[in-house]
Amino acid sequence: MSEHDKPDIDDHTGVETTGHDWDGIKELNMPLPKWWLYTFYVSIVWAIGYMIVYPSWPSLSGYYSGLIGYSQRDAVAEDIAEANSKRAVYSNKIAAASFDEIRADVALMEVAQAGGKAAFGDNCAPCHGTGAQGFTGFPNLNDDEWLWGGTLNDIEYTIQHGVRFDGDDDTRLSDMPRFKVDGILDRAQILDVVEHVTKIAGGEADADRAARGAALFADNCAACHGADGTGDRSQGAPNLTDAIWLYGSDKAVLYASISNSRKGVMPAWAGRLDAATIKQLALYVHALGGGE
Ligand code: HEC
Ligand code: HEC
Repeated sequence: MSEHDKPDIDDHTGVETTGHDWDGIKELNMPLPKWWLYTFYVSIVWAIGYMIVYPSWPSLSGYYSGLIGYSQRDAVAEDIAEANSKRAVYSNKIAAASFDEIRADVALMEVAQAGGKAAFGDNCAPCHGTGAQGFTGFPNLNDDEWLWGGTLNDIEYTIQHGVRFDGDDDTRLSDMPRFKVDGILDRAQILDVVEHVTKIAGGEADADRAARGAALFADNCAACHGADGTGDRSQGAPNLTDAIWLYGSDKAVLYASISNSRKGVMPAWAGRLDAATIKQLALYVHALGGGE
């Protein structure tokens, strides 16, 4: 037996060496555990199989698409198509049904409410607030004060055609004159009207000025806001006698509203959202609390 055939045992560790010797440095013979090695071989085989079956290697013009032609993009497209067709069933139902029919169908109403809520968040919240609570100039849609009407049909119409919206011939239209800017009333007269409006709104007003303002109101404002100031929905003219204000009831704010008028614009949605979505929005807004 030559020296190489005899197992060489390392003095320090008591482990057999590989017999390799570099300037007195020896390598311990510590093979990988068998279970580890076999797992490694199996994973190589698995990886090769996987590369053949599934899309893997890039090529100059694209990639190798695999034996079964699987594509995550297609899978997502299929999922979306399936969701859309499920939704279409409801959308078609909602589009075809009347408001009464939808409200009588609990399941359909649930879908409509959820759809309306989602569409509201996407399209309406920037102006009306996420809770539809409104901002100055953008009406709160939760209360039961309506500029243009609070029935389902009124609300649907407002959403379809908007208010003072240039791009829609059927838009809701009514323009309060700019009393100061257009020279219809002078400053003193407007201050008198402000006192009258403050008085009918329940605030503190100068009696003489308010009396003069009442006469001016009858001549200039009653046609839209009503003789008693409670408003007229057919003209979108707000009630001036309650606590709900689009722009505010401060005397300075009233002065500005009357001098310049406001002309708030609400976009029309008929061209941008489909009929079923608009219906769902109307149902959602109507159910917020102020629907009639
Ligand atoms: C660019 C801002 C803006 C967006 C977006 C907007 N609105 Fe409006 N909306 C307004 C304004 C301003 C008014 C009040 C117009 C006026 O002075 O008569 C209004 C009025 C309304 C009214 C009438 C309220 C009443 O008292 O009669 C309804 C209902 C309404 N919006 C619903 C919606 C819905 C639903 C959406 C989303 C599809 C939406 N709005 C998106 C600005 C907006
Ligand atoms: C042609 C109809 C019309 C006439 C006339 C008119 N208004 Fe208006 N008024 C409106 C409309 C519509 C609004 C809704 C605000 C807008 O323009 O966006 C409004 C809004 C207001 C507001 C703001 C209300 C708020 O909630 O902040 C005040 C205040 C007001 N009018 C007072 C008057 C007074 C006072 C006169 C008479 C000097 C008058 N209006 C005449 C139609 C009219």
